[in-house]
Parts: sequence; C-alpha cells; structure tokens
Amino acid sequence: MAMDIPPHVPRELVFDFDFHTDQRLRDDPQRGFRSLYELPSIFYAPHYGGHWVISGYETVFDALHSPDIFSSEDQHIPPSDEPQFGQIPVMQDPPEHTVYRRLISPLLSPKAVGALEARTRVLASELIEGFKDRGQCDFVREFAALVPVTIFLRLMDLPTDKLEEFRKWSDDFFSAGTEEALRAANDQILAYISGHISSRRGSGANDFISALWREEVHGRPITQEEMEAICMLLFIAGTDTVTNTLGFSMRHIAEHPEIQERIASNPSEIPEAVEECLRLFSTSNVQRRVACDTTFRGVAMKRNDMAVVLTSTAGADSEMTDNAETFMLDRGRKQHLAFGAGPHRCAGSHLARIEIKVCLQEWFKRIARFGIKPAAEVPTRAGTVMGIMSLPLTWDL
Ligand code: HEM
Repeated sequence: MAMDIPPHVPRELVFDFDFHTDQRLRDDPQRGFRSLYELPSIFYAPHYGGHWVISGYETVFDALHSPDIFSSEDQHIPPSDEPQFGQIPVMQDPPEHTVYRRLISPLLSPKAVGALEARTRVLASELIEGFKDRGQCDFVREFAALVPVTIFLRLMDLPTDKLEEFRKWSDDFFSAGTEEALRAANDQILAYISGHISSRRGSGANDFISALWREEVHGRPITQEEMEAICMLLFIAGTDTVTNTLGFSMRHIAEHPEIQERIASNPSEIPEAVEECLRLFSTSNVQRRVACDTTFRGVAMKRNDMAVVLTSTAGADSEMTDNAETFMLDRGRKQHLAFGAGPHRCAGSHLARIEIKVCLQEWFKRIARFGIKPAAEVPTRAGTVMGIMSLPLTWDL
C-alpha cells in the first residue's frame, strides 16, 4: 500500500483491496466481491488514487438514492483529466438527469421492448441449432456475446448486413486493454451509428432513433450529439452486461447438475431462475464522485472522494437473504440490486430480463444436460463490469 491515506479516512477503515486484480477476484469475481462482506460495508481502498468501497444491500441502496452526495457526473477511477465519454443520462445528476431519462424510459418500457421477445427467440434458437449437433460450443463466444449485440441493432432498427463487422467492433470495445484502444473502438461504433442517427431525423417511423428525434429538451429539439450520447450508452449498457450475466450464470448452472435437472423438468420456473442469476451473477458495479463534504452512514467523506458501489453483490447480503450464497429457485422474493437503484436504475431491465429468459428457455429446450469441457480455460475479469470471455461447454449427443 504505497499511497498516502487522506487525513479524513480512519486507519481502521483502510483495506488493501484492488478491484481489478485482487487475488480474491481471480477466477470467480462475484465470489471475490461477496467475500468483502467480512469487511465493513464502507471501507477505503488505497488503489487507483484511493476510493471508498460501498457494499451491503442497505448501504448500496442508500448511496444510490443519494445523488446529492454521490454524483454520477464523474465516474473515472483513477481520477483523470482525459475527456470522458459523456453518456446520457447515466453521467448526469438530477434535475438534468430527469429531463433526459424521461425521454428514454417510454422507449424501453415493457410494451416498447415486448416485440423484441419473438426476435430474440428466433435468433437464440437459430444459434443453438447451429452448434447443437457438435456436442460442444463456446457458450460466450458462440451464443451469449451474439444475442445482445444483434438485439441492440434490432432495437435501434439498424441494418444487420454489417452484423459481423459490428460484432467485431463490439468485441474490440469490451476487450480494449488501453484508453487508446477503447477510443478507437468507440469511434468506429459511433461513426457507424451516427450516420444512421442523422439519416432518421424527421422520419415518422417508430423505431427508437426516429422516436427520440421527435423529442424536445429544455424547449428545443434534441441535438445530434445528445442522440449519439444516448445511443452509445444503450450499446455500452445493454450488450456486455447481458452477455456476462448469461456467461457467469451458465458457468454456475453447468457446474450444478441438480439445477439443470430442476430447470429442465420445470421450464415454467425459468423466470425465477433469471432472478437468481441476477441476484448472484450480476456483473455491474457503479462508480460515483462524492459531491460535498459529508457524513454518510457515520463515515466522514470529502468532496471529490471517489466511490465504487457494489451493486452486483447487494443480492448476496446475508442480512437480507437466508442462504444467500445458494442458487435457489424457490426462495420466494429474490432481492437484489443488479439493476442499481434510485434515479439511475437500469432503464433496460425489461429487455435484459427478456433476453436472459429467452436464452435460457431456448437452451433448455434443446440441451438439458451439459458441463464445462474438462480442463478448459474459463478466463474472467473483475473491475466495475465483470467479464467472462470464454465458456467451453460439452454435452452428450
Ligand atoms: C443483465 C443486464 C444488465 C445489467 C446487470 C444492467 C445494470 C445496470 C446498472 C447497475 C445500472 C445503473 C448505473 C448507475 O447507477 O450508474 C444501469 C443503467 C442503465 N442501463 Fe442497464 N443493465 C443491464 C442491461 C441493460 C440493457 C439491455 C439496456 C438497454 C438496452 C440497459 C440500459 C441502461 C441504461 C440506459 C442505463 C442508464 C439509466 C440512467 O442513468 O438513468 N441496461 N444498468
């Protein structure tokens, strides 16, 4: 722990935890983040310029409902002077956030995204049919990574003729190891999307982009830049998250034949399985900047302190849930904060639930028993958005 601890941070709240590379996060990042329940629900990690780590259902819930204390305008850990991708509305605070959130919520409501269920089903079944007779596949690369990107293009009503290219850019974006690589991938995706955005201005169609063009903010028409910032956020927030939640969940299910048995014989319980997947295998944590000198749940914080808020593990809090570590379909209410809480609660949660549900349904219809390929590598990454890059599965033919 080489860095100086700011004087307002009590020494007993400092723990050596690196949210990207800590030993506990190797192989099973969710389990690693869950192990932090041994520590205070608010502690200070002296890495990446130093930041608070906030965990536990109630503490996370309170933090996310306090945008006056925890601002979303700066989410860069470590702090950086580089211009950040200004994603709308996730990097805004109320009241400005409310203006933009009001525009996108109706376009992602259950009614608006309901039509995508049938498309997701066709896509998922085609993909599975494509590898089913091989007795093996890479669940992440050949399935979980492909569904959300394709559905994103459909949501935006973008042509799918560049699907392969688009998937490659998406891959480059989410696997970028440097700020430079990330910007290059971002620019590629943005260049493609922005042409389609400008060509839809004035269209009377009902797709997401055309409908958004008809909106006003602060009594003036929405701008091209704002449209781009919203659409890029949907891409970033709505693809990798679904891929990785599916990937981590299927790794667990592949390791537990009794869960496979239960789901295969009771497919009507798949919506319950989706909630357990979200409770235990969610992938997104969020970042915030402290907006003012304050005391939050008894801990003194200073303006510009940074915080990592562990939304992903809030569902595994044993204070709220019995046998919190166990995947149980019949546990009743499955309380989690996988989609966050407060003003920024995930606007795409209905679509996410549809995608995960349909993928599990179509999978279990065709492949009821499966396991992880013996000796296979299952690479994962920790950080604020956890990832599983490959999951080789096998099954009997
Ligand atoms: C399992 C999949 C998903 C997970 C775990 C997830 C998680 C989250 C979380 C934790 C937030 C809160 C961010 C914050 O507080 O800073 C969020 C926000 C958001 N998500 Fe999702 N998400 C998922 C899927 C999707 C999908 C499919 C879409 C859309 C197509 C989407 C669109 C959004 C948007 C637009 C926001 C920003 C909302 C705002 O700032 O008001 N997400 N998501």
